[in-house]
Amino acid sequence: MTHITRREALGGAAALIAAGPAIATPPAGSLEQIAKGRGLRFGTAVAWHTIQPEGAKGVKGGNPAYARLIADQCGVIVPENEMKWQWLRPTPTSFAFERFDAIVAWAAQHGIAVRGHNLLWHQPKWFPAWLNAYDFGTDPHAEGERLLTTHIRTILARYGTRIRSYDVVNEAVRPSDGALYDTSLSRAIGGAEPTLDLAFHTARAAAPQAQLVYNDYMSWEPHNEAHRAGVLRLLEGFRRRGTPVDALGIQSHLITQGSAIGATIARQQGAWRRFLDAVTAMGYDLIITELDVRDNGLPADIVLRDRAVADYTRGYLDITLAYRQIRDVLCWGLADRYSWIEGFEPRSDGSRRRPTLYDDALRPKPMRAAVAAALAAAAPR
Ligand code: XIL
Repeated sequence: MTHITRREALGGAAALIAAGPAIATPPAGSLEQIAKGRGLRFGTAVAWHTIQPEGAKGVKGGNPAYARLIADQCGVIVPENEMKWQWLRPTPTSFAFERFDAIVAWAAQHGIAVRGHNLLWHQPKWFPAWLNAYDFGTDPHAEGERLLTTHIRTILARYGTRIRSYDVVNEAVRPSDGALYDTSLSRAIGGAEPTLDLAFHTARAAAPQAQLVYNDYMSWEPHNEAHRAGVLRLLEGFRRRGTPVDALGIQSHLITQGSAIGATIARQQGAWRRFLDAVTAMGYDLIITELDVRDNGLPADIVLRDRAVADYTRGYLDITLAYRQIRDVLCWGLADRYSWIEGFEPRSDGSRRRPTLYDDALRPKPMRAAVAAALAAAAPR
């Protein structure tokens, strides 16, 4: 475990602040080119409608300029929603693959890799209504197993060779106390652990070459202690039981804690490093899967806000990318107008969120320069 003294922590923060102006001239090239130079990949989540051609029948929100931006900047994409049970499984007996297929086809057309997200979002809130109310019949254990394994096998049979990395299980740990959620499926199967284990074993058997990921949003910010501890317990259990899990997906939905960015980073980095040290000591790889920033406690002024968001992102990436187990950095949307954050948690002062790398006119923001600089500064893989 790395022990960081207060002096080192503050020194790190001072270095970050001193590094600020360097971000003003970002390294040349697309984010994927910069990442590739370090043995990394850069990417984003993509919603189906945004990559549809303008005027496509029945589609609202198609934006060719945004699609071009993604194609130019990214080496990997991930469907924002289209692979989730709620979208893919309208009924217990059917799969609605059209939108997910369209994303995969678009990626192939542009020579971009695809990650799979996700095979089991283990919370009742994110199950389709029919699954929460499902009648598992007289042998719930067998029916639960059948439902889950059929779901995973059907998807992997379709995409097994084209998708090399899957978030097999998403957000199974309750942030308030670190315990695992129960769902209709886990009650039928006889517990959350056997349910998650079954998901990973099924995925490994169906796609032996794929990287299998446990993905969650435990972060370095305050009030994440129980969440991080719960994720560590889960990862330890996977190792103890021989569950085939290759990597931890670190969602990275960052939240600023006011304008004193250097001090915030200095305060938060020790616990974060200890967490990542513990995860990597167990032999797990890491992925940054869903980077964006909630600009909390920052003034509405756009220049100040964007600067603080960029500095916070840079600080986070510098610390996190120091772990060479990370090969992929994905954002959760590339432009503010397509970010989920505004709908999920608007700012209390009514000004619109600015959580991503590009503004509404698709102009690069300081956060884009910060990500470029952090990728360029990463140690080569
Ligand atoms: C979000 C999508 O962005 C929204 O469009 C949807 O309404 C809800 O899900 N963690 C995850 C992602 O793992 O799947 C979530 O995506 C964001 C938080």
